[in-house]
Amino acid sequence: MDDSHVKQDLDQTLLSEDQIQRRLGELARQIEADYDGKDLLLVGVLKGAVMVMADLARSLERHVSMDWMAISSYGSGTTSSGVVRILKDLDTDITGRHVLITEDIIDTGLTLSWLVANLRSRGPESVNICTLLRKPDAQRMAVDVRYVGFDIPDEFVVGYGLDYNERYRNLRSVATLARHVYA
Ligand code: IMP
Repeated sequence: MDDSHVKQDLDQTLLSEDQIQRRLGELARQIEADYDGKDLLLVGVLKGAVMVMADLARSLERHVSMDWMAISSYGSGTTSSGVVRILKDLDTDITGRHVLITEDIIDTGLTLSWLVANLRSRGPESVNICTLLRKPDAQRMAVDVRYVGFDIPDEFVVGYGLDYNERYRNLRSVATLARHVYA
């Protein structure tokens, strides 16, 4: 894909590559302190969390394991309903493990609430959440999010793992889309 075409599709850069990497470094220092002496398993949900997982894991100066789930949520149109089906489960038995769910964005948090309940039922030692981005609606969520990169306005954003019709995931920054893309 020609990079200039991508740029035409973007409106405003919300977070630069630099801002994202610096914040992930700060979160990594907190995570290292909180999990000191404990074994840690990062769990990512495909595909959006790929970039956050890769960069957060590489920011951590300690041993860490990684595993992935693929889930599909049934919803009407663009709203998620919280009804979820597992397409790919973890390879890891998480009994007695410290699990940190690593997310790109939390919007309504419905999918995440389901995921936390599902993972808790498997007998882990702990389940916490780290998300790069959080939208305002997520703050009404019952689930406690321990690590938040940035609270962002209620706008549709792409980049750094986040897509619109499977595009823009490969951007290094997070940006809003130009109107002509979806109008
Ligand atoms: P939730 O269950 O409403 O929290 O939905 C979260 C999922 O919706 C994320 O994992 C994304 O796949 C998608 N999503 C929510 N907001 C955005 C956005 O601004 N851009 C791209 N995807 C989004």
